[in-house]
Amino acid sequence: MTARLVVLVSGSGTTLQALLDASADPAWGASVVAVGADRAGTLGEKRARDLDIPTFVLPLADFEDRLDWDAALTELVAAHDPTLIVLAGFMKLVGSAFLERFEGRTLNTHPALSPSFPGMHGPREALAYGVKVTGCTLFVVDQGIDTGAIVAQAAVPVLDDDTEDTLHERIKTAERAMLVDAIGRMAREGFSTNGRKVTIP
Ligand code: GAR
Repeated sequence: MTARLVVLVSGSGTTLQALLDASADPAWGASVVAVGADRAGTLGEKRARDLDIPTFVLPLADFEDRLDWDAALTELVAAHDPTLIVLAGFMKLVGSAFLERFEGRTLNTHPALSPSFPGMHGPREALAYGVKVTGCTLFVVDQGIDTGAIVAQAAVPVLDDDTEDTLHERIKTAERAMLVDAIGRMAREGFSTNGRKVTIP
């Protein structure tokens, strides 16, 4: 059975695009059934609309507080009956209602090798620290910031003349390949999480 992916985005959505491209092949095992954004006018949301994939936009500013926003987000995502939820450049933390409903099947991708450089500026902080290797991490979301159990990682070199942008672009190239590979395998073969250890059989 094809796994149903709901993907949440905040920006340009190149990561989403990799998942959309992979979805075109039924053998991949997963299909993007809806895309949500936390702000209007993202290229990510447009990429989905162009393919007639259902989208929704849910700005935090439209809600009294974060709890209400999180409850609304949970219901919108649940309406699409997802197998997995993928945060693909989604720059908001989901709350406990969301995590309770989708426990163990919300995935996030982060542009650093966890546990290094969590948060919003992984590439910038890797560059500032002077590491020679950084990368990306796909993990199962928990209550922390980029702390969940690790599904997959890929390493990329940091070059002497890198800027934050050139480094982030190199990471994103590796990140897209990592995501397509890992999510395809999770969709086709399933996965289990035991403490911090995620296994795809
Ligand atoms: C990706 O590098 C993703 O890891 C990062 O945003 C980029 C999204 O690019 N996410 C975070 O930093 C979350 N903390 P995209 O909009 O082109 O897919």
